[in-house]
Amino acid sequence: MTFQRTLVTTALPYANGPVHIGHLAGVYVPADIYVRYLRLKGENVLFVGGSDEHGVPVTIRARKEGITTQEVVDRYHNIIKDSFEGFGISFDVYSRTTSKIHHQLASDFFRKLYDDGKFVEQTSEQFYDPETQEFLTDRNIRGECPRCHAAGAYGDQCEKCGATLSPDELINPYNAINGNPLTKKETKHWYLPLDQYQQWLEEWILQEHKEWRPNVYGQCKSWLDGGLRPRAVTRDLDWGIPVPVEGAEGKVLYVWFDAPIGYISNTKELCDAKPEQFGSWETWWKDPSTRLIHFIGKDNIVFHCIVFPTMLKAEASYIVPDNVPSNEFLNLEGDKISTSRNWAVWLNEYLVDFPGKQDVLRYVLTANAPETKDNDFTWADFQARNNNELVAIYGNFVNRALVLTKKYFDGKVPAAGEFNEYDQSTIAEFQNVKAEVEKLLGDFRFRDAQKEAMNLARIGNKYLADTEPWKVAKTDMERTATILHLALQIAANLSIAFEPFLPFSSAKLRQMLSMTELQWEELGNINLLKEGQELGEVSLLFEKIEDATIQAQLDRLANIKAANEEAEKQEALKNWRPADIKENTNIDEFGKMDIRVATVLDCQPVKKSDRLLQFRLDDGMGGRTILSGIAQSYPDPSVLVGKQVLFIANFPPRKMMGIESQGMILSAVDADGKLVVTTVTAPVRNGSQVG
Ligand code: MF3
Ligand code: ZN
Repeated sequence: MTFQRTLVTTALPYANGPVHIGHLAGVYVPADIYVRYLRLKGENVLFVGGSDEHGVPVTIRARKEGITTQEVVDRYHNIIKDSFEGFGISFDVYSRTTSKIHHQLASDFFRKLYDDGKFVEQTSEQFYDPETQEFLTDRNIRGECPRCHAAGAYGDQCEKCGATLSPDELINPYNAINGNPLTKKETKHWYLPLDQYQQWLEEWILQEHKEWRPNVYGQCKSWLDGGLRPRAVTRDLDWGIPVPVEGAEGKVLYVWFDAPIGYISNTKELCDAKPEQFGSWETWWKDPSTRLIHFIGKDNIVFHCIVFPTMLKAEASYIVPDNVPSNEFLNLEGDKISTSRNWAVWLNEYLVDFPGKQDVLRYVLTANAPETKDNDFTWADFQARNNNELVAIYGNFVNRALVLTKKYFDGKVPAAGEFNEYDQSTIAEFQNVKAEVEKLLGDFRFRDAQKEAMNLARIGNKYLADTEPWKVAKTDMERTATILHLALQIAANLSIAFEPFLPFSSAKLRQMLSMTELQWEELGNINLLKEGQELGEVSLLFEKIEDATIQAQLDRLANIKAANEEAEKQEALKNWRPADIKENTNIDEFGKMDIRVATVLDCQPVKKSDRLLQFRLDDGMGGRTILSGIAQSYPDPSVLVGKQVLFIANFPPRKMMGIESQGMILSAVDADGKLVVTTVTAPVRNGSQVG
């Protein structure tokens, strides 16, 4: 199949908060690089984005902020749209799923599948709040964890022990919002019978798309190997697109049903508005010579590789994606990025804190892109890459070439004499770059592609360092002219090579070289600048980032971390209730336990263990050593020295980390999980028994 055009979509971010570096690194920067590259090659490409404005996350946010859901999506849609614009994400259209066009199209899409008998109807019992008369989503149901018995576990997960749960497993489930106890009630929903498409999916993905990234292919394979089941595509909710079927009052389309249709609606919105420029939306979505590419994050794989393609297939007139380059996750300073915990670098804030430095973030996120595994963003790395790569290599090279030309040749491109052998080898070296970058971009390997572009800057930088035109100028102006001529041509090539990656810097560089935007095909050409051509104003392409700037960001994160820890502690205290009294026992059983008093002589953390403390005790019987797993609760264990503590004296000795522990120190567990060592209320002789 030879493709005539490429349709690129990017996951529609939930309009429940601003977008952050994780979004940019995982989806929008790689997609933008790809699209800019195709445009530069003169290909027919359409780049579609938008906000995902339905679903539970936006309603939760509205409740939290005390405003209406519409207000939430209006606010964040605009913030998100501006952030993308700020970073030069060059969408042809960025719309939203609350648009009229989308509601209509998604509704029609559902209706078509419904009329064609593609859904399975099923009635089931779901949790229901009789007072508010609403069904609850998993996340809005809480109760006691069936595994660890922590209070306040969620219907989908216990955050205490990490268990994956279903709401049915919770003990005493209640409405997370108002605390009401829940009952069960019957409700009808429509299901997409994925099982009926299993065979087609296996063939289409596992046979025909072996070239998909291993992480994507692997996830699909494990879903398919597990056997697909029908999936509900409607919900009992009041926020969303009404189910266009009689008897479905109070029901809306499941957000994962309507959102991907948003790609189609947004294309339609654009094409209907400007048909002469973009053609018909149906060509983009139904003509088999269109190549459809979805850029997404890894939590979206099943929806884009299995659910949405099945919807498209069931509808029968649409094409399905040719590739779904999905990234893994980006962490921030070692911790998972989280909107609800405010653990993120927000793009709207970055644009204010680092004006004019959009390309620096684009560069760092691509250099560190989580293409094959989760990766970490750190501010130290951000600073190092800016100062040691963008400033020291790319910026430095361009600046030297331009400044020297101003100095020796009045700011005009000097005429080249004959190229010597070293010049020739430099030229040969950088002419490989084009083919390399093309190959890598074709394989969606953005990180290596950018490295290759940077290589071109390295070649330029090395060329000037080796040829030293500032020294040659003292004796040989003709040779100086040749060197700077070639250096300027390399700089002009850099503006093309980096255009997909660092568009702001490329524009600035073109201005300095007074050149217009060139096609990708020109990359590798050493006659981009004409002899005698006057250069523009010279300024720095990149600036050094100082320690204080980085420290300010680290301080901000430290404050957020402290606030989160405090909030979690408060939450734990709020949810605490005494554990149930254990089964009856008797005095004989208790008497078997030899509990005694000892004074702590010394207490030290055990090397290479973040859990264990080593106690040396005066137990009135010659002394003993006990290890206790309470280090997290005692950052300064010396506070325990001199205290009398209670310990079990007749446990058999046990070796941990090569040290023998002779008993167990008794501690109480506080509501936030903190351990507190027990003691006596007045001094007694060491070795005294407790009973
Ligand atoms: N809003 C979803 C998320 O942030 C992505 C939706 S992608 C779409 O995970 F295909 F459904 F639009
Ligand atoms: Zn649990």
